[in-house]
Amino acid sequence: MEDEVIHSKIVAIASGKGGVGKTVVSASLGVGLSMLGKKVVMLDADFGGANLHKVMGIEKSSQTFLDFYSYPYTRLNEILIEHPYFNNLRLAMGVGDSMALSNLQYYRRMKFIRHLDKIDADFIILDLGAGSSYNVMDFFLIADYGIVMINPETLSILDGYNFVKKAFFRKLAKTFKVHQEVSELIKESASDHTECKKTVVKNLLEKVKSLDGGMGEKMEKFIDGFHPMLIINKVDKSKDENKGLAVMVAAKKMLSIEMKYLGFIHKDDNVEESVEENIPFIFRDSRSRASKDLGKLILQNILNNGKMQSVMKQQKLVKEIEQKWKEDGSDVI
Ligand SMILES: Nc1ncnc2c1ncn2[C@@H]1O[C@H](COP(=O)(O)OP(=O)(O)O)[C@@H](O)[C@H]1O
Ligand SMILES: [Mg+2]
Repeated sequence: MEDEVIHSKIVAIASGKGGVGKTVVSASLGVGLSMLGKKVVMLDADFGGANLHKVMGIEKSSQTFLDFYSYPYTRLNEILIEHPYFNNLRLAMGVGDSMALSNLQYYRRMKFIRHLDKIDADFIILDLGAGSSYNVMDFFLIADYGIVMINPETLSILDGYNFVKKAFFRKLAKTFKVHQEVSELIKESASDHTECKKTVVKNLLEKVKSLDGGMGEKMEKFIDGFHPMLIINKVDKSKDENKGLAVMVAAKKMLSIEMKYLGFIHKDDNVEESVEENIPFIFRDSRSRASKDLGKLILQNILNNGKMQSVMKQQKLVKEIEQKWKEDGSDVI
């Protein structure tokens, strides 16, 4: 029974740099889902600076990730603690700034990923560390909802784009690692900072296609199926949302990646005050702007993802029709 594989939806929130709001939004996302009756497990996967438990109002626990990694037979299930106030919500606590855990060895990362399958929940939320270490990227890449969070600042936007790029090339390289020539081309493109910057993945695809048609097709399918998601947090002015959307435009233009936009969350005093009080902001004041934004995002884009995917497919179809129309257009005229 214990080793049964359960298919929970894994949500992982990453960002280029720290301080964008991953932890506070993860906490409120978990609480929001649990209040809607979903079984939620929250994992503090920021092994270098764990603070999710604090934001969730928990001081300490007898079990942490240190136990999970120190003892080979300890299961992830065993370090989960029930939240004292919220129903349906369990949490695995990290440890302050543990050097031992901040850059996990490969076998420890694999243990974590293996054990995720055995957790009984509707949603597992991973609050990731900042940056693009292998820990962060590999957890991001196994998620059903791999979310990149940014703020509407130029640096944060660039960091967010860079994160998407690194994660994309890591998964691409892993997928094609058995094909040596294709792997070489991927490596070249990933480190290409000069030539044809604007269409780096399109160029790669063309090269792979002329090398091996079948591989080209496989890569095209891979790109079509890669949809990292975006949340813009701390939106203040009306133009902030558009500014943040630049990440999606850049990913499309340079990497040929279609990101999914989940929505934005306003900059809101309720969030800052909730951190002071160690209460997730959605619970502290469910009518504040940030809480309403997150509520809408959960209802429309997290719980209704199936519907969204079919809308995405239709949009793709429309694009294909448009493209065909353009191509055939000259003949018609
Ligand atoms: N929507 C928001 N409005 C106002 N302040 C916010 C908002 N989101 C996050 N913050 C502030 O940003 C700080 C950093 O958030 P945190 O979740 O710890 O970031 P990260 O986990 O990405 O490093 C929080 O202490 C909070 O005060
Ligand atoms: Mg954090």
